[in-house]
Parts: sequence; structure tokens; C-alpha cells
Amino acid sequence: MMLKNDLLLRAARGEVVERAPVWLMRQAGRILPEYRATRAKAKNFVEFVKNPELASEVTIQPVDILGVDAAIIFSDILVIPEAMGLPYEMIEAKGPRFQNTIQTKADIDKLKIADAGDLDYVMKALTLTKKELNGRVPLIGFCGAPWTILAYMVEGSGSKTFSKAKQFLYTQPVLAHALLDKITQSSINYLKGQVTAGADLLQIFDSWAGVLNEKMYYEFSLQYISKICTALSPLVPVTIFAKDAHYAIKKISETSCASIGLDWTIDPLKARQEAGKKTLQGNADPCLLYSDEKTIISETHAMLEAFGIDRYICNLGHGLYPDIDKEKVKLFVQVVKEYKW
Ligand code: CP3
Repeated sequence: MMLKNDLLLRAARGEVVERAPVWLMRQAGRILPEYRATRAKAKNFVEFVKNPELASEVTIQPVDILGVDAAIIFSDILVIPEAMGLPYEMIEAKGPRFQNTIQTKADIDKLKIADAGDLDYVMKALTLTKKELNGRVPLIGFCGAPWTILAYMVEGSGSKTFSKAKQFLYTQPVLAHALLDKITQSSINYLKGQVTAGADLLQIFDSWAGVLNEKMYYEFSLQYISKICTALSPLVPVTIFAKDAHYAIKKISETSCASIGLDWTIDPLKARQEAGKKTLQGNADPCLLYSDEKTIISETHAMLEAFGIDRYICNLGHGLYPDIDKEKVKLFVQVVKEYKW
């Protein structure tokens, strides 16, 4: 199917665009009353994610309501641990919890290497969304980076420091690599399935990149992300978003990814110097959207100016917070779309 708006894909591939495409991490989420209404139809978050009709509905909401240039499939990075045999729950206002965690070789041996069939509900949600979108905008698929997934599987929940997960890397490096390998293979199978089901671009979320030092980041995270990129890049453009890993941009640019997602702690010009010819995505602080309209407009203009029109995808530096005013989000999107390049 021909896309009516393929700005995102052209920008990712470094082709000519009339303006920068814009989408937002966590655009399908609690900032939208429509999202909350759909979510209320499911028993809990995990059941919500597993329901292709509901997932597809909230995937399309931000395209209609916010006017973004891409849809990102509504799911979660934690579907991979579940498909490998480690189920999770999402506790209201607290976040994810795993009843069982990974500690020993036996725990890792018990895990299955997931294939796309184990995540059939995501494939169904993608197929349905692709049909409903009818070519309006590209559809983004995603997974978590192996390190970020390991962090949840070992820690058992979110954490400020992920010290249990890091303890595992320091004390059980051989086991850590065995687990990272299994997660990597599962993620490749999963993402290949997503492309078959209609994903036009893939993003790898390394949300906890920033808790590792540089050397450990390359050893325990980037080498596995790179394997995923090598497997998927021949099929669709891949974006690597490694939060707080500004030291790694140059090394990330040496993978086969098409674009690099940035958080707000890095200066756009500095990132340009380090990223070579890769497309950059980001990087407004989500908290900018708490400010008044005038500030949102001037700061957004400054960001667009700094990145420039070539090889740029406009986004935030991390996901939207639930208490951000939807009108401010709409304003941000509108400012990007109306900017005179
Ligand atoms: O719009 C989109 O971005 C697509 C959907 C999406 C969700 N999670 C839905 C979701 C995506 C891409 C994710 C990825 C994800 N999930 C990440 C990586 C991105 C990041 O934020 O760093 C991580 C670390 C997770 C794990 C996760 N899921 C946590 C820690 C939480 C709880 C925190 C919170 O915001 O409540 C979730 C829950 C979650 N995933 C929500 C949404 C919309 C909010 C839950 C709700 O509806 O109650």
C-alpha cells in the first residue's frame, strides 16, 4: 500500500523532505482522555496490550487527535519477557512487577527463545492498524534493547539505579551474556514478525542505557542492539534510542541503524558532529510542554533550527508525562508542521 504521508521514512533514509516529520514517544497514553476511556474497557494493562482491537484503537487516536506524522503500535517492551516465560503485571501508579526474576543458570535455561507466533496478538494489532490507517501515516514497531529487558527481568521492577541488574553484570557476566543472547534472538524473531505484519520502521528502546558506564554499555548493550540492527536494517529503517548514553553516539552511528534517538541532555550540534550521516530524532525535554505557549513556540523553533531540515525527525527526548496538557502537545505538533524552513 502506498503511503500518503511518508515523511518519516524519507527522513529516516536521509532523503529530501518538505518539512520535518513529528511524532512523540508515549503519544498513545494517558494524556488523551480517549486513551483512558479505551483502557477502561480492559481488565488490566496486560489484557489491554493483548487485545488487538483495543490496541489498534489507541494506536490510531494520536494520529486523529494530535495530527502526528506516524503511529507507533500500542504495546509494551515487557511482552518479550512474557513471551520467553516471565510474566509481568502493571501496578497502577507504580509500574511493572515480575513475580519471578532471573538469578541463576537454571532460570535462564528455562526461558524460551520467543518467535513471532508467541506474540500473535501484536501481529494482529499491527495488521488491523495498518488496515485502519489506510496509508495515512507510517506505522512504527518496536522492542526494548536486550540490556533494558534484562534489567527488568533481573530487577523484577523499575528502579532508580537498577543496582540488582548491574550486580548481575558484575558478578555473573557469563550468565548475563547468555541471557542477553536469548533476548536478542527473541527480539529479532519478534521484529521480523512485526515487519511482516506491516511495521514500516522499528525503534529499539534502551531506556536504561544511562545507568551503565561506557565500557559496560558497549559490552552488555550496544553489541546486542547492533546484532538486531544488522538483522532488521535490510528490511526497514531502524532507530536506536539509548537514553542518557550521549557518550555512545559515535559508536551507535557505526551500527547499521538509520537513525539515532536523542534525549534532551545532548546538544543537537554536538550530536550532529558525532552521528555522521545518520538521521537524528528528538530531543525536546517533555517538561518544556509544562511552559506557556510563547516558550513552547520559541524553544521548538530553536530546536528545529539547530537540527536543520535534513536527516531530522522531530520528537521529544523521552515519553510524554501523563499530566501534560493535551492542548500543549497539539501546539508542539502544530508548530513543527507550520515551521517555515
Ligand atoms: O505511544 C507509545 O509510545 C507506544 C506505546 C508504548 C508503551 N510502552 C505503552 C505504555 C511504548 C513504546 C512503551 C515502551 C516502554 N515500556 C518502555 C521504553 C520507553 C520508555 O518510556 O523509556 C519502557 C521502559 C516500558 C516499561 C513500562 N511500561 C513502564 C516502566 C511503565 C510504567 C510507567 C508509566 O508510565 O506508567 C509502563 C506502562 C505503560 N506502557 C503505559 C503506556 C501507555 C502507561 C500505563 C497505563 O496506561 O496505565
